[in-house]
Amino acid sequence: MTAITQFVDLARRGRIAILTVDNPPVNALAQGVRQGLRDGMRQAIADAQVQAIVIACAGRTFIAGADIPEFGKPPQEPSFHEVLGIIEGSPKPVVSAIHGTALGGGLEVTLACHYRVGNKGARFGLPEVKLGLLPGAGGTQRLPRVVGAEKALQMIVSGDPIGADEAQKHGLIDEIVDGDLTAGAVAFAEKVLNEKRPLRKIRDLTDKIAPARGKPEIFAAFRKSVARQTRGFRAPENCIKAVEAAVNLPFDEGIARERELFGELMNSPESKAQRYFFFAEREAAKIPDVPGDTPVKEIKKAAVIGAGTMGGGIAMNFANAGIPVTVVEVAREALDRGIGIVRKNYEATAQKGRLTQADVEKRMGLITPTTDFAAVKDADIIIEAVFEEMPIKKEVFAKLDALAKPGAVLATNTSTLDVNEIASATKRPESVIGTHFFSPANVMRLLENVRGAKTDKTTVATAMAVGRKIAKVPVLVGVCYGFVGNRMLHQRGLQAERLILEGALPHQVDRVLTDFGFPMGPFAMGDLAGLDVGWRIRKGRGVKSPVADRICELGRFGQKTGSGYFRYEKGDRTPIPDPDVEKIIVDVATSQGITRRHVSDEEILQRLLYPMVNEGAKILEEKIAIRASDIDVIWVYGYGWPVYRGGPMFWADQIGLRALRATMLELKKASGDDSWTPAPLLARLADAGKGFLDK
Ligand SMILES: NC(=O)c1ccc[n+]([C@@H]2O[C@H](COP(=O)([O-])OP(=O)(O)OC[C@H]3O[C@@H](n4cnc5c(N)ncnc54)[C@H](O)[C@@H]3O)[C@@H](O)[C@H]2O)c1
Repeated sequence: MTAITQFVDLARRGRIAILTVDNPPVNALAQGVRQGLRDGMRQAIADAQVQAIVIACAGRTFIAGADIPEFGKPPQEPSFHEVLGIIEGSPKPVVSAIHGTALGGGLEVTLACHYRVGNKGARFGLPEVKLGLLPGAGGTQRLPRVVGAEKALQMIVSGDPIGADEAQKHGLIDEIVDGDLTAGAVAFAEKVLNEKRPLRKIRDLTDKIAPARGKPEIFAAFRKSVARQTRGFRAPENCIKAVEAAVNLPFDEGIARERELFGELMNSPESKAQRYFFFAEREAAKIPDVPGDTPVKEIKKAAVIGAGTMGGGIAMNFANAGIPVTVVEVAREALDRGIGIVRKNYEATAQKGRLTQADVEKRMGLITPTTDFAAVKDADIIIEAVFEEMPIKKEVFAKLDALAKPGAVLATNTSTLDVNEIASATKRPESVIGTHFFSPANVMRLLENVRGAKTDKTTVATAMAVGRKIAKVPVLVGVCYGFVGNRMLHQRGLQAERLILEGALPHQVDRVLTDFGFPMGPFAMGDLAGLDVGWRIRKGRGVKSPVADRICELGRFGQKTGSGYFRYEKGDRTPIPDPDVEKIIVDVATSQGITRRHVSDEEILQRLLYPMVNEGAKILEEKIAIRASDIDVIWVYGYGWPVYRGGPMFWADQIGLRALRATMLELKKASGDDSWTPAPLLARLADAGKGFLDK
């Protein structure tokens, strides 16, 4: 065996050369890998004893993609295109041997090979679209030539990988190998030689793309089918155009078109935001004073207290991850209702074909409903999701303290209450933490883990690990009213309310935010969540919100009553502007002596989002969030902030904090409202010409 570079070895078995990439952990296409492949290929081609070449990978996966940290840096030789050209142009057949995941550049390497074999567990995909890019090394040109235009569109635009069986069905791999993969690939190469099979260069294949040639309707139909999911993103359209080019242009022209479309994306603000966010999400897992090797509690069993809206959803997360979970309720009736809803949710998923009936039963079987509180005693984590009232929470935690086994994590799903006070009801505040799920808890990916003053590191590390285990994106925050997400949301809500009194209407405010990329605006969101919840809280606290109160007094609680800020047709969730609500708004404005005026979309956007950024600055200064990018992760995963705009803090940095501050000061002057005063951190950064994300 010869080392070609630090990351690539060349060996020979009889007449077959084997190039092995070994760049842990995922064999990313770093410079040394590209060089190793190029030089190794050249050596193998030059070696008279070699008649065919196998490209394989050591470790747990085939090449799983580009070396993302190299993005945006000056390109280093050799270029990936050059490497692929040498592989595809080899006069000796090249077979790739795929295990783990062949993703992005990894799949493009295999597509430059003449043949592909993989083991049963291998997965294949082009996930570039998720970074706002497209596969820019021939992926958009070669994949359609192997699997056809429609399958290629689906794979490239979704970015989701497919398994080995599907890959074989669509011709992406030639054979599935059982047992030793390299041996299987060598045997396959021998077969190619013995049978004198041709050098099958994908660039020359046309049979799979011919049916779509000159048929723009295929692409039009595809565009329509993905319009909803891809709204606002730039990359999907370029991906589609690239596949169209593959179908309609000669290969080299298609490659040139792909390069052009790739360049557009690489320089786009959308991709910049998505690439930023990719790292932001990974960064959120790191907690400066809780190192990665902090011991975590193994979670074999979980318990949830309360089977209401949140409790049921939280329990589903554990069942979905295969972890047995006990659900405790006070009364049988509430328990049956809650568990009934869980079953209905699973059945609905099964009906859509996304779960089998056996899966439904298996998951239901992992959920044990009970009214016996003592059942929590063998749980490794207990998550409380009872009514949002401090005395009840404290009573529950005192009980948990008496019953839970030593070392169990005691978590609360409170959205507004003080986690420290809840912890004080126990003799083990070090084991208490907030786990703030978002509704619907079985769907929303965000988990705000709330660290109390006394929460110990093991509890923090465990809550983060559990979050990942149940497929959430956990972000650690500190204790304050509303934590990070809702605290910022509150600022947006205050402005939304003022905007409609000053002259905007709910549908205009909502449209500005949906145009920005949110799935819905604040008023439609209120209607979805139920306006009665806030109304009851306001009444309890003696707070008024004149428009919302009047709407609720009419029994308009939102979607569930068929009307709220908007009205709804039966069985349809589309918000329809309602003149009755407009009249209420105008009446309230008049009674407050407000002269309504035209409010521009630009003003609406600034007034809704700038106060959130300002609150984010306060949250950072108070160290409630560890870093600005964590706030962005919270907003993307918890509130539907469009990922192609990075998140509120990234977005503010793109505007520039000086410009943002100047607008805030103008709004302050115009309104006389002190809440527009820029937060000290924002002001300091603006003075220094820096952004929240600058180091
Ligand atoms: N609904 C949301 O959108 C949302 C989002 C995030 C967090 N939260 C928080 O989650 C918690 C639960 O909210 P929800 O919306 O699920 O409320 P819910 O009213 O739907 O459910 C609460 C359940 O707790 C049960 N319960 C009350 N006292 C109990 C006790 N002593 N022991 C066992 N069960 C008891 C009730 O019977 C009820 O079924 C609250 O703290 C809330 O602030 C709610």
